[in-house]
Amino acid sequence: MATASATAPAVDRVRRLLTPEAAERASQRDGYLDLLGPEPPASSGRVQDLMLSRALPEIYERWWRPALGRVAKGVLGPGMADEVRIARLLMALGPGDTVLDLACGTGNFTRRFARAVSSEGLVVGLDVSETMLRRAVADTQRAALAREVGYVRGDAEALPFADGTFDAVCCFAALNLFADPWRALDSATAVLRPGGRIAIFTSVRGRSPLLRAGDAVVQHQSGMTMFERHEVVDALRARGFGEVRQRLTGVTQFVGGRLEG
Ligand SMILES: C[S@@+](CC[C@H](N)C(=O)[O-])C[C@H]1O[C@@H](n2cnc3c(N)ncnc32)[C@H](O)[C@@H]1O
Repeated sequence: MATASATAPAVDRVRRLLTPEAAERASQRDGYLDLLGPEPPASSGRVQDLMLSRALPEIYERWWRPALGRVAKGVLGPGMADEVRIARLLMALGPGDTVLDLACGTGNFTRRFARAVSSEGLVVGLDVSETMLRRAVADTQRAALAREVGYVRGDAEALPFADGTFDAVCCFAALNLFADPWRALDSATAVLRPGGRIAIFTSVRGRSPLLRAGDAVVQHQSGMTMFERHEVVDALRARGFGEVRQRLTGVTQFVGGRLEG
């Protein structure tokens, strides 16, 4: 369901999805709408700090994400093209959909969703990192998708959009980075319309005592959350999602569901 004129630049279309209070304080910077200004939300730890650096966005899409993803998903786990397919399937994306890519990084998934929603739809990438967003905006302009894809600098734990705005929300490789993942999930649920779909790719704790000991070290050193196997599935069900599906691979999981209502 596209909610604003498809002929306007995406950044103007995105502005119309904000709450009145957020629209009031949004400023346009470097091609995205900034809702945070100089004060970013509190960091969850070292990995999160890296995401704010200048260097990481330069290598993120080509090297960092595929390499770390491979280690985390395991040698037989899905590759990056498979991840895009899984996200699109879990969100059942179709022409005209309005989609939120939560913690979009350099827009590596955001741009791919644009092709599924066509020019009638709209994809919004939201991230806290200025450097990631600058790269996302540049790559989106190069891909000639500036009408279908717009970016917002905001906090996943306090989303600036009106309730029921989106047909689908994707949150890949980020729930485990948020200081309070359950607050972020509450916020994502609120901005989904009834019947809307969610797709999550995140961490999962190992089963063996050895793996679990390793997880505890990773968690402590990096600030990342390692979720128990049932936790994310239970959290979705508790928030009113049905048709909840989970696929485990390595120390990661893909989870999807549809908001009942
Ligand atoms: C590993 S990247 C994931 C990028 C992309 N979704 C992917 O799957 O490759 C994690 C992103 O989460 C963002 N992030 C972390 N905490 C955030 C928060 N509270 N609000 C918005 N974005 C956040 C980081 O800035 C970073 O760009």
